[in-house]
Amino acid sequence: MPTKIITWTPDLSIGVEVIDEQHREVFAHVARFLSTVESGRVEELLDLLHFLGTYVEAHFRTEEQLMRESGFPDLAAHLQEHDAFRAMFRSIVAQFARYGDDPRVGAFAEREVCGWLDAHVRTVDRALGDWLRAHGVARVA
Ligand SMILES: [Fe+2]
Repeated sequence: MPTKIITWTPDLSIGVEVIDEQHREVFAHVARFLSTVESGRVEELLDLLHFLGTYVEAHFRTEEQLMRESGFPDLAAHLQEHDAFRAMFRSIVAQFARYGDDPRVGAFAEREVCGWLDAHVRTVDRALGDWLRAHGVARVA
């Protein structure tokens, strides 16, 4: 299975530097994980997943704090999306712990994580960025 290259590109910018910077880090962690998937080294993959999950959790907290501080009107819907990622991610970690050497698990993780990230950043995070800039909450990139 050829590994998909996932990189943060400027068209993914939401115009708020603190969030863009964290998104670049998230994408870098995902890329590191995906480049290791084919190795089948399950322990190493679980470590990378743990690191990625911890980083994403901190990133979600940053966004959620900015949403609360600014009175973002779509907070509940955005939180639901983050929760959907958390559930999906937990399931991926469990599958790797059990079947990490099966290439189908890596393919599933790649499809789900990359698909979620791309769609989330381009839609709800972009809407959040527009709101934060319009309300002068965050420093404009
Ligand atoms: Fe978000």
